Amino acid sequence: MDMSESTKLVSKNSWLKKETLANVVETIGTPVFVYNEERLLKNGQRILNAAEKSGIRNAIKLFIPFFPNSNPYLFQPLHNIGMGAMIQVPAEHTILQEFGVDKFIGSTGHLSDSEIDTWVDIGCPIFLSSLSEVEYLIKKHPTEPIHVRFDCLSSDKPGVKYGQLSEFRQLLKSFDRELDSFELYCGSSISAEEMAGFLEQVFMIYKTYFPGVKAIDFAGGYGFDYEFLDQESKHFEWDQYFRSLTETVKRHNVPDSVEFWFEPARDVFADVGVLVLSVERLVRQPGANQLLIDGSRVLMPSAKMKNRAHNVLFFDENLNELPPGDTEAMLRGRGILRHDQILPGMYQIPDNIKPGDIAVVLDVGAYCATQHMEFLNIPGAPEVMIDQLEKTKLITKRAEDTDKWRNLVRATAAS
Ligand SMILES: Cc1ncc(COP(=O)(O)O)c(C=O)c1O
Repeated sequence: MDMSESTKLVSKNSWLKKETLANVVETIGTPVFVYNEERLLKNGQRILNAAEKSGIRNAIKLFIPFFPNSNPYLFQPLHNIGMGAMIQVPAEHTILQEFGVDKFIGSTGHLSDSEIDTWVDIGCPIFLSSLSEVEYLIKKHPTEPIHVRFDCLSSDKPGVKYGQLSEFRQLLKSFDRELDSFELYCGSSISAEEMAGFLEQVFMIYKTYFPGVKAIDFAGGYGFDYEFLDQESKHFEWDQYFRSLTETVKRHNVPDSVEFWFEPARDVFADVGVLVLSVERLVRQPGANQLLIDGSRVLMPSAKMKNRAHNVLFFDENLNELPPGDTEAMLRGRGILRHDQILPGMYQIPDNIKPGDIAVVLDVGAYCATQHMEFLNIPGAPEVMIDQLEKTKLITKRAEDTDKWRNLVRATAAS
């Protein structure tokens, strides 16, 4: 980036440009989630480049989970670089197809017989989570491939447990069937080093029980460090991880034909999004000052729930960055409840902060807007995409103030 480009940014720690932020605040208002297409592609490409460097690009497929950011507009750019989507319910398939996505895997909870029938009709690989689900599939849909989730590393997700692997192998044998692929989720927010540690266990399961599989799906859980401000240091070390994968694959003589599937969400989406808020009042009081902003915990409940202290940048009304001062405050939302803070804990805020200033919460592209809660009757925030030409596009409208009651059945004169 040259100097003139970098001076256009609101801060060296964000991709957000001053002119864009001014435009979004003026035309759409706050609170608003803003996503950046260029950053999204960069995050996707970082993974593909790491795979290329490690020499396993041809064996790798990516299916980005839809539920951590359920805005289909984010899946179009990912589709353009060859990535598919991981889905959980059939409606996600319908909406993403409308947006051009054409590669899917389904990774759901336990399924009823009729739900299995529905997924077979949809026609994408679906990971089943129990022996009885597999038995139903084999009997009712004997030509369908068999994909199964193993819950062998104590993630406590629905899945066939480690102690059931022999029985499962026996079940397949009794129907003269082979497993096509298995998915194995290693946990959440795991470093490249720890992930590499799990590889050995995954390949032991592969070799011992199912050496005939065509694909191994490593699911998600790739760590993203919210504490870092620097835009590169936050990310999972894909280079290091793929080097370990390549080395393990060679050591276990895994044939070239076996594919490796990945379902990263946090690492792909987190720093693609910011939440822009307006400062409304600083309430000074003994104990804890309250910086009232026009958001609420319900706009992205998991930040507080998971104790995720996202970095926040502050700006005056001319969008000059305000450095944090000596004043500490909680970021107080609009609701009455004592726990309506949008972020956990205390923040150092600029000493001269005033109504009309702007707060930008970083790294809210994953597990944030998608979790909006209707509790407290506070409507959801709009979502905006900044495309690669720096054009601002509204992709989700601001919810109406009466949104909570949109499905209420109102009495009509005739009823
Ligand atoms: C099966 C599965 N795959 C992928 C993911 C995405 O994980 P992450 O956002 O940590 O990459 C999840 C998250 O819960 C998951 O359950």
